Amino acid sequence: MTFDDSTAFERAATVLSENDRGTYTVPTKGLYPFQWNWDSCLTALGQRHIDEARAWTEIETLAAHQWPDGMIPHIIFHVADDGYFPGPDVWQTGRPVPTSGITQPPVMGFVLRRLYEEAKDKGLAEAKARALIGAADAWHRWFYAARDPEGTGLVALLHPWESGRDNSCDWDAALARVPTDGIEPYQRRDTSHVDAAQRPHKAEYDRYLWLVQRFRGLGWDNAKLHDASPFRVVDPGFNAILIRSDEDIAALGEALGMTGLATAARARVAKARAAFERLWSEVHGQYLCLDRVTGELVESRSVGGLLPLFAGLGTPERQQALAVRIAEWRAATRFGIASHDPADPRFEPKRYWRGPVWLIVNYLVADGLARCGLAEAAEAVHQDSLKLIEGGFAEYYDPVTGQGLGGGNFTWTAAMVAELVRKRAEAVA
Ligand code: DGY
Repeated sequence: MTFDDSTAFERAATVLSENDRGTYTVPTKGLYPFQWNWDSCLTALGQRHIDEARAWTEIETLAAHQWPDGMIPHIIFHVADDGYFPGPDVWQTGRPVPTSGITQPPVMGFVLRRLYEEAKDKGLAEAKARALIGAADAWHRWFYAARDPEGTGLVALLHPWESGRDNSCDWDAALARVPTDGIEPYQRRDTSHVDAAQRPHKAEYDRYLWLVQRFRGLGWDNAKLHDASPFRVVDPGFNAILIRSDEDIAALGEALGMTGLATAARARVAKARAAFERLWSEVHGQYLCLDRVTGELVESRSVGGLLPLFAGLGTPERQQALAVRIAEWRAATRFGIASHDPADPRFEPKRYWRGPVWLIVNYLVADGLARCGLAEAAEAVHQDSLKLIEGGFAEYYDPVTGQGLGGGNFTWTAAMVAELVRKRAEAVA
C-alpha cells in the first residue's frame, strides 16, 4: 500500500497514541511493555509534531529515573509485566522504580536541542530545556568517568544491549569470550511475540544473561563494572552519538547562558574527536569497533561504522568514503541502509541487527550526511525510509524485500515517519 504524506502522518499519530502510557511510550505492545531509553528520546522527535508538551514529558519521565551516579538506564520498569524477559527480578538494581542496570545510546542531548530550537511554544521549551539539560550533562560526565576510566577519550560498552544494536556481528568475537557457566535457568519471552528467525540466537542470550549476572554480583557498582567485564567494546556509532549529543548540549547550554556546562561539554568533544580517528580502517573504508580487551580493531563492517557522519567526524575524504559505502550497500539491496554490509557472509536480512534496516538509524545517518554536505545521499535514505512503511510501521525491515519484521505498530518507526513527513512539508512551505 502506498501512503500519501498526510495518511502516513495520521497513521503514525495513531501508533504513537496507541502506545502512549501517559508519561512514557512503550516501543510496542507485548514485546516491549516498558520505557526504553533511546526509544523514548527518539519518540519525542515525532511526538512533538502532535503535542509538544507531551514530547517534553517523555524525556522528563526518563530523566526522573537517572541513577545517583549519573547513569540513565536502558529500561524503566514502570509496571509489572511478565511478558518480557529479563524483568526486574533478574536485574535486581534496587531502584525505587525498578530499572535495568545498563545504559543505551545517549541521543537525549541531540533531541533536547532539536526540541528546543524548533519549538513552537518557546516559553515551555526554555523551561523544559533548562530543567533537563543537567540530566544529559551528568549522564555524559558519567560516561567518561565510568566507561573510560583511563581517559582515552572513547567510551566502552559493557553489554551488547547497551549499543542498541543487540546482536550485531560487531560483537561476535568479544561475546565469544563471555562464559556461560552458572547462568540461572531462564525462559525467553521475545520469541513468543516474534518469529525466532528474526531475533538473536540462544547462544547470544546466554551470554547477555551471564553479563547481567556478573554485574549484579558486583552490586551494579559502576566503579567496578568496566574492569570486571570480559566484554568491553568501543563502538564508533555509540561514541559518535555521544559526541554529537555533547556538541548539542554545549550549543543548548550556550543558548541558555549556562557557559560553564557548555565549556566542559566542548572540552569533552575536543578530546573525543582527537581520539576518534583511531577507529578508522583504511582497508574497509569505514570506521570499526575497537575491542578494548585485545586492543584490536574488530573486522566487522556494520552501520555503526557509518554513524560517525552523525557527529561530522572524519575528514571530507572519509565522509565521502562513508557515503560511497552507503551507496554500495543500497545498491546491493533494494532498501537502505542495511545494518550490516550485505557483502559479508554473516549478513542476515531478517535477523534483527545482522542485516535489517531500522528507520531510526536511517534518520541519524541521513542527518549526518546532510550535515557533511551530502544532501542528495541524505534524501535517498529518507526516500527509502518512506517507501519501507508500505510494509507497515514495523520494528525493522528486510533490506532486500522490504518486508516488515519484529514488533508491529512500532513507536519509533512511527515517530520517524511523523518527523520526516512534517520536515518535508516545512521544506516546501
Ligand atoms: C531486547 O530485549 O531485545 C532489548 O533490545 C534489550 O534492550
